[in-house]
Amino acid sequence: MMSNAPSAAAGSTPPTRVLTGDTPTGRLHLGHFVGSIENRLALQEKHECFFLIANMHAFTTRADKPSDIRADTIEIVKDWLAAGIDPARSAIFLQTEVPAIAELTWFFAMLLSFNDVMGNPTLKHELETKGLGDSYSFGFPMYTVGQCADILAFRPELVPVGEDQEPHIEMCRKAARKFNQLYCGVGNRVEPKDHPSAGGVFPIPEAKIGRVGRLPGIDGKNKMSKSLGNAIFLSDTGKEVEKKIGKITTGRQSLTEKGDISNVLFDFVRAFIKDPARVAELERRYGEGDNIGDGHVKKELAENINTLLEPMRVRRAGFEKPGGDEVVIEILKEGTARANAVAEETLMMAKRAMGLGFWERVVG
Ligand code: TRP
Repeated sequence: MMSNAPSAAAGSTPPTRVLTGDTPTGRLHLGHFVGSIENRLALQEKHECFFLIANMHAFTTRADKPSDIRADTIEIVKDWLAAGIDPARSAIFLQTEVPAIAELTWFFAMLLSFNDVMGNPTLKHELETKGLGDSYSFGFPMYTVGQCADILAFRPELVPVGEDQEPHIEMCRKAARKFNQLYCGVGNRVEPKDHPSAGGVFPIPEAKIGRVGRLPGIDGKNKMSKSLGNAIFLSDTGKEVEKKIGKITTGRQSLTEKGDISNVLFDFVRAFIKDPARVAELERRYGEGDNIGDGHVKKELAENINTLLEPMRVRRAGFEKPGGDEVVIEILKEGTARANAVAEETLMMAKRAMGLGFWERVVG
């Protein structure tokens, strides 16, 4: 497969490089879509995108379930392809097949303090809520350092992620700054955006947070999450979507009761009904109790979600035929070759800066 990734035409500004990824833990849902996938689809139109499957990270909590991780890896690629990520433009690749990432993880682990890692708010939250107890693996906190390497191996300017990932991007910026200061002679007053022109190997990447920072689940209480059973999956059927939307409870009793437009139903309306004039109209009528029931709103909402998901179902069906998994693996192989070309170059640049540039090497 030929790469159609955007490249810089003579005289024009080069496209931004973008990196992001997902840990394969199960099917993707609407929270992932509005948090990050939607941004990826827009970015791949104009930029050089690398999309990583963090299968190494999956082992930090599920080392005893290798076959589940393998199945989830294939599934998540199918979800991406179904959503519209185009492997001819964007490199879709496997973390475990990019050795430079593991090597850079070691180097960055020496630039961040133990307290930087253990004080990372997202990690702390996971340690409290994932039920890992106090015998979580040493590798679990380590994944945050690994994520710095995932990102910096590609020297991207932009990292599209959900709101919960912001502390990780902050850590990554810190690791990049430190590296550039220690090994590339970048002064500590140099602005983040000027690091590359001041000789730094790494750009200081920025997070790009999704349109909806935190989408609640259909329970209206928690963030949408597979493990809480409150998710609408990208691969749900039309009927499943209708059923799940039907389960949303607002406590409103009649068509003329003044509704609360800050409820979960309206969070969904704002997230998934595209026409802003229609959203405003629904908000007005619901808020005033102008002869509109929850049932009306739910029906229209489910239709809009199904319009979004229908093309994904069609694309997904193409990969669910016999031989679909092999096609997915071929896409990963081709994307990983593109990823290794860049990551190896980065590693060599980093090693040279660190006085470790002994000789060149070739990794397939
Ligand atoms: N930790 C991210 C998540 O759970 C997945 C991830 C791994 C990632 N490496 C990354 C995201 C690099 C962005 C960039 O969603």
